[in-house]
This record gives sequence, C-alpha cells and structure tokens, in this order.
Amino acid sequence: MCKKTAIYPGFFDPITNGHLSIVSRALKIFDRLIIAILKNPQKNALFTVDERIYMISRAFKSESNVEVDTFDGLLVDYAVKKDTNVVIRGLRALSDFEYEFQMALMNRKLNRNIQSIFLMTDYKWFYTSSTIIKEAASFGGDISGLVPKMVNQKLKEKFGYAKNT
Ligand code: PNS
Repeated sequence: MCKKTAIYPGFFDPITNGHLSIVSRALKIFDRLIIAILKNPQKNALFTVDERIYMISRAFKSESNVEVDTFDGLLVDYAVKKDTNVVIRGLRALSDFEYEFQMALMNRKLNRNIQSIFLMTDYKWFYTSSTIIKEAASFGGDISGLVPKMVNQKLKEKFGYAKNT
C-alpha cells in the first residue's frame, strides 16, 4: 500500500488544542504528518522556533508518525523537498475562508501539483486561535482546556504568572 505523507504548515505560536484536533483528523487520512513551522523573522513571535519545536514534540511524543520540522521560503518548494504534494489546513469559522482560499490558490499557481485539504477543527475550538489565547494569557486569563497543559505552563512563565513551587 502506498504510504502518504501530508504537511501541516503554520506558525504554531503556540500549538493549541485546535491544532491537535486537526492533527488527529489528518492522521485518520494520512499515514504520516509533518508539522512544519515557518521560520519568519518578520513576524514577532512570542515563542522562539526552538520553544515551539519543543512544545509540539512534547504534545506528540507518543506519535511516531508525526514529524516536527521548520521551513523558510515557499511552502510549495518545501513540499517538493519533503516529497509530498498535500497541504493540510484547519478551518474554523467562515472568517478563515477568504485567507485560506487565497493561499490555496496562490500555492496552486506556484505549483500545479500541490493539493490543499481543509479539515474542520472540533466545534469546541471554533473560537480559539493562538493569537486570542496569547492575549487572554497575557492578562492572566484562565486558558486551561484550550492548550496542552505544558503549553499553558509555558504561557504562564512567559507572562510571569507561573507559581513558584
Ligand atoms: O499559522 P498561519 O499564520 O496560519 O500559517 C501561515 C503559513 C505559514 C502556512 C503561510 O504563511 C505560508 O505557507 N508561508 C510560506 C510562504 C509562502 O509559501 N507563501 C506563498 C503562499 S501564500
């Protein structure tokens, strides 16, 4: 049987339970998933690339078919390098659609062979994003249940809310 790999690209700053939901759905379709973090020096990230790699690797430590990697430049070129033509993206509300539509069509313009597949995250995560979670966490808001426990702890440390034990 042909083993099929897909790429799940993004910033993952940080990884959320919404992302985890997309990964587990993608693994029901594909044999292997590469979570690919864009290294973009222009975008201000809260977590360093190494911190994001660490958090994602921890979240999937028992999944041998999930690889964590980084890329820069065009996603379509990275896909060719990784010998796949499938890009997974998560969709939450309708508001995601326009950006995703543009990106999928641009990627297809850049490489006719690239196929974008959109998976719906679980309804529980429809309203969440890394950005809104970071904002809530920055003011000490309770974001438990929206991110893996270890990510919650890292957010508290970043924003100075971690308890000294
Ligand atoms: O986490 P995000 O912001 O939704 O991720 C966006 C990402 C990293 C998938 C997108 O910006 C990307 O693929 N950038 C790489 C550069 C590229 O290929 N651009 C052309 C297609 S729009």
